[in-house]
Amino acid sequence: MMKICSDLEDLSQTAAEVFAAEARRAVKTSGRFTVALAGGSTPRRTYEILSHPPYGKMVPWQETHVFWGDERCVSEMDPRNNARMADQALLAHVSLPREQVHPMVCDRSPHEAAEKYEKVLRTTFGEELPRFDLILLGLGENGHTASLFPETPVLKEQLRWVTEVYITEEGLHRLTLTLPVINRARTVLFLVSGAGKAGIIREIHEGSPDPYSIPAALIRPDGRLLWLIDSDAGQLLRKK
Ligand code: 6PG
Repeated sequence: MMKICSDLEDLSQTAAEVFAAEARRAVKTSGRFTVALAGGSTPRRTYEILSHPPYGKMVPWQETHVFWGDERCVSEMDPRNNARMADQALLAHVSLPREQVHPMVCDRSPHEAAEKYEKVLRTTFGEELPRFDLILLGLGENGHTASLFPETPVLKEQLRWVTEVYITEEGLHRLTLTLPVINRARTVLFLVSGAGKAGIIREIHEGSPDPYSIPAALIRPDGRLLWLIDSDAGQLLRKK
């Protein structure tokens, strides 16, 4: 399902409402809410909204367990660090037990860091493939999502839950949840804003994308898939 929002503010308000609704539904049915946050710049406003009233009361933070969909292997103080951004915009401001916050930490080789994060997931979810209540995702202009980049071996990964990937253009490693984990989620929520994304949005939704060139097209969860797009990002869509 796709919803076109008027602008980033409208998109962010809608995303916060979806987040709160999913959190309440999950806690009601299973006693906890597991969410994987996205990085990039688009979700920042959503996180800020969630850090303010009424969401302090509307989200059951005490029962919320926070993970990440991906991370760049940079210092935790680096502005490109996804966990740092979410901490500043949201997590530092809500009553969420710190032991329920699970950043992807690159304090060893990227391969070992990925294995370590998979162990963190096993501690929360057990030995079966994790089923997140909600996974937030962004979209790159090249069609990447999380750190599933075009034509990378990660796209074929079937066994590991978390992998490392070297991004040549950035000259750094990233860690990412793999497709089997993302596609098992109860809800996947894409947040896409800005005219720079209009071409790739049209290709994904109205073209016939080669999924290995446009990895976001490989996201087809067992559960619900919701695209929140602002009008700039949706401007090239024929069907609105
Ligand atoms: C990240 C994610 C990536 C991101 C997109 C969109 O950067 O942490 O790997 O999927 O969400 O690149 O980024 P923007 O929101 O900054 O456009």
